[in-house]
Amino acid sequence: MECIQGKQSLHIEPAFLANRLADYDNILVDIGTGDGRFVKTFAKAHPEYFAIGIDTCRENLNANSRGRLPNALYLICPAGALPGELYGRASLITINFPWGSLLSSLVDQDTALLFGLSAIAHAGATLEVRVNGGALQERGLSLEEGCKQIQSALTLAGYETHSADLLGSREMRATETTWAKRLAFGRDPCALYIVAERT
Ligand SMILES: C[S@@+](CC[C@H](N)C(=O)[O-])C[C@H]1O[C@@H](n2cnc3c(N)ncnc32)[C@H](O)[C@@H]1O
Repeated sequence: MECIQGKQSLHIEPAFLANRLADYDNILVDIGTGDGRFVKTFAKAHPEYFAIGIDTCRENLNANSRGRLPNALYLICPAGALPGELYGRASLITINFPWGSLLSSLVDQDTALLFGLSAIAHAGATLEVRVNGGALQERGLSLEEGCKQIQSALTLAGYETHSADLLGSREMRATETTWAKRLAFGRDPCALYIVAERT
């Protein structure tokens, strides 16, 4: 397994990850974490959680992974192949402003992603998905269509949707991810915010 710490790429054994998680009942997994800002902010605000950021891109993580928080870790791995050590462990899963293959996997109901989302959650875990309206539009989907497709994907992965709301500029500015803030200042900022529970 590959872990990023500042500019270093480290190989970690599954036992090392299991060990780091051993003392935590609450685990956040942020999929498509980008520069890891959300994980870093969350880990600092919630010492009772261990926060894990997952992405396929190393370089963006250099700055935020440098600080070595005791309760945060950044893994390089595709969303469709989440580590088995996380199975049944996540109490909170977030997918913030996905694009590329992550967004495609979500709206097209890719079985590898859905299996992973299903597998890493423990019963009653919360899944939060924030999707930029413009990213859906680029795929030819309205917010309503995107919302329906994502909700169907989540149902297939064993989640029940509790709410599906729209975020505007103010709410996006208040969301601690780099893309939320970037998009909040764009033209016509609007995002879907879906909250679901693993049944
Ligand atoms: C628009 S950025 C959002 C980053 C961050 N969540 C934020 O809100 O600032 C989308 C991220 O998804 C990642 N991504 C895309 N496809 C992925 C995949 N299949 N597995 C893991 N990460 C992926 C990209 O590398 C990128 O960092």
